Amino acid sequence: MKQFEPFRLDAANSRLWRRDAQQDAPIVLPPKPFAVLRYLVDNPGRLITHDELLDALWPETYVQPQVLRTYMLELRKALGDDAENPRFIQTLPKRGYCFVAPVTDWNGTERRAPLGTALSMEEPARFVNRTEELAQLQRELKHVSAGERRVIFLVGEAGIGKTALVDAFCGQAMTAGTASVARGQCVPGVGGREDFYPLLEALSQLCALPGGEEARQVLAQMAPAWLAHTPQAPGADAAAPDRTIAGLSAALECLAAEQPLILVLEDLHWADGATLDVISALARRRARTKLMLLATYRPRSEASETPLKSLRHDLLIRKLGGEFVLAPLSRLSMAGLLSEQLSQKILPNGLAEFVHRRSEGNPLFAIAIVEHLIAQGTLVRKGENGAAAWELRRGLEQVEAGVPEGLVQMVELEIDRLSSEQQRVLEAGSLMPVAFPAWAVAAALACDEAESEEMCDGLARRLHFVERAGEDELPGGMRSAFYAFAHEVYREVLYRRQAAPRRAQRHVRIAERLGELFKGREADVTREMAMHFEAAGSWKRAVEALRLAAQHAERRHAHAESAELRQRAERIEMREIGA
Ligand SMILES: Nc1ncnc2c1ncn2[C@@H]1O[C@H](COP(=O)(O)OP(=O)(O)OP(=O)(O)O)[C@@H](O)[C@H]1O
Ligand SMILES: [Mg+2]
Repeated sequence: MKQFEPFRLDAANSRLWRRDAQQDAPIVLPPKPFAVLRYLVDNPGRLITHDELLDALWPETYVQPQVLRTYMLELRKALGDDAENPRFIQTLPKRGYCFVAPVTDWNGTERRAPLGTALSMEEPARFVNRTEELAQLQRELKHVSAGERRVIFLVGEAGIGKTALVDAFCGQAMTAGTASVARGQCVPGVGGREDFYPLLEALSQLCALPGGEEARQVLAQMAPAWLAHTPQAPGADAAAPDRTIAGLSAALECLAAEQPLILVLEDLHWADGATLDVISALARRRARTKLMLLATYRPRSEASETPLKSLRHDLLIRKLGGEFVLAPLSRLSMAGLLSEQLSQKILPNGLAEFVHRRSEGNPLFAIAIVEHLIAQGTLVRKGENGAAAWELRRGLEQVEAGVPEGLVQMVELEIDRLSSEQQRVLEAGSLMPVAFPAWAVAAALACDEAESEEMCDGLARRLHFVERAGEDELPGGMRSAFYAFAHEVYREVLYRRQAAPRRAQRHVRIAERLGELFKGREADVTREMAMHFEAAGSWKRAVEALRLAAQHAERRHAHAESAELRQRAERIEMREIGA
């Protein structure tokens, strides 16, 4: 283990620890930034060129050097480092990087975390209460440790705290070293387009870790076509048969033979049918394994309701799965959440009761109400630079009518308060599925890219529901920041409020701009372009892009992917074009 104060880097277990007064705390890093950090720490005090780093980390693949910049931003954030005045990572412009802090070997006798501990993208949220739910999950994990597989659905409305609970539970398991974790996220609009999407994400996580060699070997032996779909082994399916659910199930069971493995699948209401089939198979198989499948979903979601409903019903009836319904926060927990949000122990009189009642114990709604009260000037902080305690300027009974009944209406109200230009910028951002780059906003609105970045930065500074998530460099050297919504509900409201023809026009502009930006490198973006053309109902162009994407996949020997893309193109042709 390497040490550079106040951090320790455990390469074997892919963990970064920060020394703390009471207890060392793990820092959550995604696999690639972790690998970058590991390389730097293994080679301190010397210039590491971009090429050396790229060769070391992606030996067989061409990767844009710009991704390094994004990873460095992420690492600096995690280490609390400053690019201008670096304590750890120094950038040597146009040449590379140097790890400048002294590095020593650490011989402590820490408990080792399990191999293949894949990590979530975010730091676990600071957590309020939910002790009973955590204890229940711990009990389930005990059964899993004894070799009894578990399939657990974690159910609750949007914003009730499913992800927060999963983060806390997995964080505990990782810290205690009682289980490995792999996570996959279902993404709206992707289910039905890409089979097995969240599973492939989870597998990539398992394989990408430096300690993920075991996962790669097991997949290579038992499910080679699945390995081929991870970025760690592109093209490896040249001779492999198609992906089979049995192969994947057996591989996962094997990976969970010794050490419990928690496979988290988030937001199943957006899952593709193929992913649901895997869950069904995993629940029905009888071999002993230490596999815990933890799947979250919203019960009243419009998307993919029926197949998910019948899967859940079937598994529950046969006692092949369990379900936890996440209850609203109690009044006491709500007070804790608000104290944390406002960084204030003693809250203004009546605030917790009011927010609890109006939000019906939904944390996301509660946070939006607090933001609303602040924006309205009802909840204020006086003193120099607003340093004094938060207080209520009006009686809450006076603001009662101004707080909407539902979360969506609350979000609509927040958006209505913005200027029309700000609304347009955010609407354009909502056209992108996960994070939205400033260049896409500029393309959608046909405006200047630098201006759009300034607007987005301003919004990220001002609004609690938009944040700057990183910076990327595009082909040709152009840099563009990207942003994310704090919660999907913001993206949904912004997406829906655009009239369909305007939305379609904006989608097409983004697709066209993608084509321009990646001219000569279309292979990287044809899938994404197809998605925008489809969303715009621009069927012919969608089919063209899908066929091109299929050709590119074929060239990479990703035969299964290529076949999927072709089928998709055919379906659109039959359904929409009548060919
Ligand atoms: N117990 C909690 N303590 C502190 N913050 C919480 C808690 N539960 C939820 N939150 C916060 O409330 C917000 C919504 O929670 P979260 O994202 O976990 O909801 P969710 O149920 O996963 O929603 P979705 O269905 O939309 O994914 C987040 O900002 C989260 O950090
Ligand atoms: Mg969630």
